[in-house]
Order: sequence, then structure tokens, then C-alpha cells
Amino acid sequence: MLFSLWSMIISGCNADRMFTRKSAKAELEAFYTVRPECKKNVPKSHFKLKAGKTLSARRWHASFSEDGHLNISKVLQRIQRGGVHPSIRGAVWEFLLGCYDPNSTFDERNLLRQRRRQQYDEWKAACHKMVPVIGSGKFITTPIITDDGQPIQDSLTDASTQDNWAQGGNVNESSLDKKVIQWKLLLPQIGLDVVRTDQLLVFYQSEAKGAKLWNVLSIYAWVDSDIGYVQGMNDICSPMVILLENEADAFWCFEHAMRRMRENFKVTATSIGVQSQLSTLSAIIKVIDPKLHQRLEDLDGGEYLFAFRMLMVLFRREFSFVDTFYLWELMWAMEYNPNTFSFYEDSAAKRKSAPPAIDDKQLKQFGKFELNNLKAGNSDYQGALAVFLAASILEIKHKHILREAKGVDDVMKILGDVTGNLDAKKACKEALTIQKKFLKKARQPL
Ligand SMILES: *[C@@H]1O[C@H](CO)[C@@H](O)[C@H](O)[C@H]1NC(C)=O
Ligand SMILES: *[C@@H]1O[C@H](CO)[C@@H](O)[C@H](O)[C@H]1NC(C)=O
Ligand SMILES: *[C@@H]1O[C@H](CO)[C@@H](O)[C@H](O)[C@H]1NC(C)=O
Repeated sequence: MLFSLWSMIISGCNADRMFTRKSAKAELEAFYTVRPECKKNVPKSHFKLKAGKTLSARRWHASFSEDGHLNISKVLQRIQRGGVHPSIRGAVWEFLLGCYDPNSTFDERNLLRQRRRQQYDEWKAACHKMVPVIGSGKFITTPIITDDGQPIQDSLTDASTQDNWAQGGNVNESSLDKKVIQWKLLLPQIGLDVVRTDQLLVFYQSEAKGAKLWNVLSIYAWVDSDIGYVQGMNDICSPMVILLENEADAFWCFEHAMRRMRENFKVTATSIGVQSQLSTLSAIIKVIDPKLHQRLEDLDGGEYLFAFRMLMVLFRREFSFVDTFYLWELMWAMEYNPNTFSFYEDSAAKRKSAPPAIDDKQLKQFGKFELNNLKAGNSDYQGALAVFLAASILEIKHKHILREAKGVDDVMKILGDVTGNLDAKKACKEALTIQKKFLKKARQPL
């Protein structure tokens, strides 16, 4: 049966006609219900659940052996053909992002999950001690301290902020204080962004759900203080908070997503992390479409800054909400490479530098994108699929840009016109085609 998830969200009566089984409809609607007053603002979705293509709950459960080994090859095949059924998305994403080793057992994973939840609870308790609103089901949008670290009176956190101040840090007082101050200054910014995140969803109408997102981002900012918090991380985190009911599980899923994206969010006085992806994008366009590259270079100084947002928040604005989920799981399945994960925290250092020779059976454990790299003998080139997707979007607009763009504003506008209208599957297919073309041409001497 073919049916559009979108039609179910947008209009109850149409959906009723399309559905003979009401329970299936109710089950799906529960996931991403859009607030009634927002429905007209939501772009059309291209994601369709397709029997025989989309990874269904039944097939997912059948892909585990009795003790819990997951046949990842089987699952990747499906996802790359038709995405994941919303009812199992959270669990599937955990594997796609490398939270768990598919070759582990149920028992091993339960143990790991318990350990991670415990770790998260410890961090949360420590953060709660510093700022009691963390974990309270509420969150803040106004400053709690001044820039030099003095507590601001009348804030929710007053009393214990003072307490904590009095206790100080006994390890290395000045550096700990500095870390605490920097972190506390981020919290209201996170709050303001949480208020703006996916506001069209019924999900975030409850303050407790907003607080869940705020907790995860705040605790992440504390734990990964090199990155802290940068706008855009809210857009990456929100789907995990929606899909995984347990807050600690949502945190770890986000943390694993950040492992592959965190370089993008590194901000220094002189650079932004995503710049290296923008240069890769420029290098790709230069090879596959020199004419367009020349024009863009003339308009933009060759920095390709107009693609900044796409890469920073992984196309959340270019695709409709439902399609972003679909896009991400397609991308992660295509990028799946068992050799790049460190499934257990203590094995991070043991990451294989030179992966062993790979036989045919193991090849099936790689996503299409990684397989293309592998076949081209391209082990040093680290371009993410996202960069090729951005390239494919530029290629879609090739004629438009050459014909109409007189300045970088026009490029932004032309790209802006695709907002919410892209088909994730087509875009990924095109991205893979561009990748192949690029790998072939880049190998020839220019
Ligand atoms: C996993 O699934 C693939 C594809 O469906 C199949 O060829 C392979 O034999 C399976 N592997 C195991 C260990 O069951
Ligand atoms: C899976 O784990 C078992 C031990 O549990 C190990 O013997 C086997 O080599 C592993 N397989 C792969 C493909 O890593
Ligand atoms: C505290 O930490 C900072 C930065 O990590 C370091 O430069 C400083 O020497 C440390 N101070 C003490 C007293 O250990």
C-alpha cells in the first residue's frame, strides 16, 4: 500500500479515506503532529511509506538473531531504498549513528545503555547542583549571571548559585570557575533557541518537552566545553528528543551525531568549522561544473558561504520536517562504515588506522556512499555526503544561477526557493552520481 505520511498530518478527512486501518493512522499521527494553526505554513512532504522498500517494524525485529546480533547489511539495504517506519526510527537511528555495535547481543547493549544512562544522570546531577532549574521540567531564557560571573538576583537559580559559589572548585579554582561561567552564560541562549525550535509541532507545546531539549543541549554544552553550544545544534538535537522517549538515550544519540558533525560547530576568533566543508564543496563544483564554479567564485569570492546553513543544520530548512528525518536516515545509511565507529567508549583510542582487507560479505556492511569511496581507493578523502548533497542542490539550480544571479543575494534567493520542496531520495541519488563523477575526474590529472 502506498500512502503519504504528509497527507495524514495535513488533513484528517483525506487521511481517513486513504486509510482502512484507523489504528495505523493514529499510530503514525502521534509522531509528528503539526499544530492546527500552523498547518498552512508547512511545506509538502515527499516521504512515503512504501511496502517492500521502507524498513518496517516487522522486518526490523526479524533482522536480529536470537541473542540480538543485528544483520546490519539487511537493514542498510532497506533504509537506502525507502527509509524507516516512524515507529522504529529512534531505535534504528541509534545503530545508524554508531551508538551500538550491530554485532553485540541484547544483553551487552542493555548493559551499555544502563551505563550510559547512569553517566548522563551523574552529569545531570552535577549540572543541577550548579543550576537547579536543570532537570526541573522548566528552562530559562534570561541570564542568571553577568558576563563576569556575578549572580543576577531574582532568577530561579538564585540561592544555590550562591551556594555553589561559596563551595567553589577545589581542583583548579580559576579554570573551573571560568568553565562554569562560560557555561552558565550559554544557558539562556539555549533557552531562547529551544523556544524557537520546531514550534509548529504539538510536541513542543508542552514546557516539559522544551525542557527536555534544553537539558540535553545544556548538559552537552557542559560535557563538551570545547564546543559548548552553537546555534544550529538545537536543530540537530530536536529530532532525537522527539524520537527517543528517554532523555539520556536522546542525549547519547545526539552525542553520537555530534561526533561526526562537531567540527562544523567549532568556532574560533578567525574561523568557523564548517568552512572546511565549504572548501570541499567549492573543490567539487570546480571539478564537475567549472562554469558554475567560475560564476559562483565571481559572485561570492569563492567562499561558498551561501551554503553555510545547509551544511550547518543538515538541510533542515531545505527539506520539510518529515523529509528531513527521511533524508538523515538515508544519508546515515549511505555513509555507514563500521570501521569509523568506536562503539565502546574505551575503544576510542583503538580506532583502526588501516582497516583490514575487506571481503565481499563485509562490503555489504557499508553504505553506498562509503562503498563508492572504498572502490575508488579513496581512503584519505573525507568529504561527507552532505557536501555532495549541497553540490546536487547547486546543480539542480545550475541554469537558474547562471541565467539570473547577479550577486550572492540572488544565489541565496534561488537556493531559498527550493526550501521545503526537495525530494530526499532524488537528492541523495543525485549526490551519489556527483560523487562518482567527482571521484573519477579527480583521479585524472587536471
Ligand atoms: C544478512 O542479510 C543479507 C541480505 O539480506 C544476507 O545475504 C546475509 O546472509 C545475512 N547474514 C546473516 C549472518 O544472516
Ligand atoms: C561478532 O562477534 C563475535 C563474538 O561475539 C566474533 O567472534 C565475530 O568475529 C564478530 N563478527 C564480526 C563481523 O565482527
Ligand atoms: C589551572 O588551570 C589552568 C588552565 O588549565 C592552568 O593554566 C593553571 O596553571 C592551573 N592553576 C593551578 C593552580 O593549577
